[in-house]
Amino acid sequence: MRVVSGIQPTGNLHLGNYLGAIKQWVAMQDDVAASGGECLFFLADLHALTQPVVPAELAANTIEMAAALIACGIDPAKSILFNQARVPAHSELAWLLGGTARMGWLNRMTQWKDKAGKDRDGQSVGLFTYPVLMAADVLVYKTTHVPVGHDQKQHLELARDIATKFNQDFGVELFPLPEPLVSAAAPRIMSLRDGSAKMSKSDPSEASRIHLTDSDEAIAQKFRKARTDPEPLPGEMAGLDERPEARNLVTIYAALADTSAEAVLADFAGQGFGAFKPALADLAISVIGPIRDRFTQLLDDREAVGRHLAQGAAQAAARAAPTLAEAQRAIGLQV
Ligand code: ADP
Ligand code: TRP
Repeated sequence: MRVVSGIQPTGNLHLGNYLGAIKQWVAMQDDVAASGGECLFFLADLHALTQPVVPAELAANTIEMAAALIACGIDPAKSILFNQARVPAHSELAWLLGGTARMGWLNRMTQWKDKAGKDRDGQSVGLFTYPVLMAADVLVYKTTHVPVGHDQKQHLELARDIATKFNQDFGVELFPLPEPLVSAAAPRIMSLRDGSAKMSKSDPSEASRIHLTDSDEAIAQKFRKARTDPEPLPGEMAGLDERPEARNLVTIYAALADTSAEAVLADFAGQGFGAFKPALADLAISVIGPIRDRFTQLLDDREAVGRHLAQGAAQAAARAAPTLAEAQRAIGLQV
């Protein structure tokens, strides 16, 4: 089993990123190692080039995001942690796969359609070809499993299509088809201000999300001010169907406590938010507080974080090189 996943180093991780993505990575690293497999996790700094870049910010965000991942429990001694730009095989394979991927496939990507909107001509070429680089990220390691959020599932299906066509076109069995792991335990966390919008760093309201750098007071205050309704909590999840904000807080509680939403409701049925919110805030502080403190410590020595990334990149490059060479040979490139 070889597990690979990436996250863009956009800075300022929030609770949605943690509960929806990183926590699954952390949970996997021991299980995968125990079964003789390997996990590779990377900061997708090349993917960040699809949007306007501020060089100093990209550099700082990459180190900070690496520190945040380590603080959340990704252990560079157990998993291979690196930034994509330091392993050139990703870009090289992406170019080779550019000959295989079809315009029509990329045109159908919903993320491209959403992000480009009506102004397709004004977008960077990178934004359009981004899923090809993502396919290379995965295929260059002959990855078997890719933990992703719902929003990335389509890109992974594209990676499978590219792998299939490449294998067929060149008559090789080079790339195994990577399986998406969309964990049932990975909840979609919604904004604290609007239960119909996802918690996102692009929401202009800071009060809509909990950052992993928030102080205990800020966490407590954001939950206290979170939008809810005056009704008490029901005994069953079905009772929250029309109450997205209430359902979101119950979902967050369950994810933080590693339990089910049903179990949370069994404990809190009949209670109002006056009781539930402080309990949720205490729980969140008990989980996020230690992550924040480790993160702050790690940032005291950014060079040490950089060394972890360099070491991870060397390990990743060693694993990527044979696959890239096989792909070059299959195509007939003399390199
Ligand atoms: P953002 O929406 O804040 O820009 P990204 O798109 O950079 O976040 O997502 C980074 C990772 O975190 C992805 O794996 C994504 O699936 C996950 N993620 C982001 N927001 C949420 C959320 N609100 N709930 C669950 N997972 C999320
Ligand atoms: N596109 C992913 C995101 O925005 C990040 C990513 C890049 C990724 N390459 C990947 C995820 C390869 C999984 C595998 O969240």
